[in-house]
Amino acid sequence: MKVLVVGSGAREHAICWRLAISKHVSHVTCAPGNAGIATCAEVVPVAATAVNELLALVQEKGIDLTVVGPEVALEAGIVDLFQAHGKAIAGPSKAAALLESSKAFAKEVMVAAGVPTASYEVFTAERELRDYCHKKGAPLVLKADGLASGKGVFVVTDATEFESAFQQLFGPLHAERVVVEEFLDGVEVSCIFACNGRDLIPLAPAHDYKRLRDNDEGPNTGGMGSVCPSPRISGAELEWIQERCAAPILTEMAKRGNPFSGFLYAGLMVPRDPSRRPEGIRVLEYNTRLGDPECQAILVRLTSEPTELFQWIAGVRNEKPTLSWRKEVSTCVVIASDGYPEGVAKGDEIVGIDLAGLVPDAIVFHASTSANEKGRLVSNGGRTLSVVGLGNDVESSRRVAYKAVDLIQLRGRRVRRDIGS
Ligand code: AMP
Ligand code: GLY
Repeated sequence: MKVLVVGSGAREHAICWRLAISKHVSHVTCAPGNAGIATCAEVVPVAATAVNELLALVQEKGIDLTVVGPEVALEAGIVDLFQAHGKAIAGPSKAAALLESSKAFAKEVMVAAGVPTASYEVFTAERELRDYCHKKGAPLVLKADGLASGKGVFVVTDATEFESAFQQLFGPLHAERVVVEEFLDGVEVSCIFACNGRDLIPLAPAHDYKRLRDNDEGPNTGGMGSVCPSPRISGAELEWIQERCAAPILTEMAKRGNPFSGFLYAGLMVPRDPSRRPEGIRVLEYNTRLGDPECQAILVRLTSEPTELFQWIAGVRNEKPTLSWRKEVSTCVVIASDGYPEGVAKGDEIVGIDLAGLVPDAIVFHASTSANEKGRLVSNGGRTLSVVGLGNDVESSRRVAYKAVDLIQLRGRRVRRDIGS
């Protein structure tokens, strides 16, 4: 089978890597890919949002199945277009992907489906938003209603921080609508469900680290590391989450004529106090794709056939696959370039990847990398690499990951040292 993977991050590198070692896959193409993906797939320079060109690519190359990584391709309508041309594709339609691309829509669906979530208000006028926030006071969470790569959310814990949040929201983010939520305390877990419109299969739960710096300090990022399976929830809690936080969304979306197929990623806040679990668990958000960096930690543990899963999602396979996982734990550590997540440096040479790849049980996935004119590997802005370690427990998996991370050099790199601790 020939497969196309759409995207260019470490998530897509992990998907390509996992597909490339499947005995059912004869050829992997990735668009637009990156320098690391080029080692396990044919990389074609077509942007993830150039959906017509991607369709032409699939038709030309006789590709049997397409797997979509990033939300921007979903929002550009890639799934609708491919399906209209009879091409198998694993991902949600544009209308179903609204669960991620509009926070206000997601909230409305959650309420209709009876999913436990933080209470909220939606504002379109800056004046009303300001009045509301100052009246309510901190803590509150302000979210731009649109895709912002994890950077449109402001957790305001002190009233003095409101002003800078307003300036960002109505300045660079050009927010037309802002969702204001009750602040929830706890630990975060990402539960991702493979869905085929009617039914769902839980992937191994993971958690990621959204803040830039150790001890969850600094600005929100796309994610600086992950652990799978997450020790933060039990098997019984995952079942509760499936029943209360994922299955009702499938029912609700189907009722609205927009059945959800693809990966439904529930970002959850889990109370620290075990006596408040599972009833105190709340959905923070949905994403309509695999998480990055959760995907890297999840896929290195997947031992069952990945094409069966993607085909089932795409609706070209009826039999529900049974997923199996390596017993080891995985820890993924992200290496971001200087300045991330604000102004990011590009073009800095990356040294030591080959050595890092020799660390037993370590795997290096590329995100924003490219080759410079001398053929040297350089950073291309933002999150640059994801380094995954496998071990018998979280501690040993993080030791493997950091051993490999420490063999890599990149000027001014940003790395959290507390992933998995
Ligand atoms: P979101 O994109 O909605 O997941 O928000 C990004 C991050 O902001 C989350 O991963 C949380 O760390 C934080 N966050 C979002 N909503 C809340 C909330 N209601 N209470 C506390 N933290 C939140
Ligand atoms: N790791 C968070 C995300 O993929 O949105």
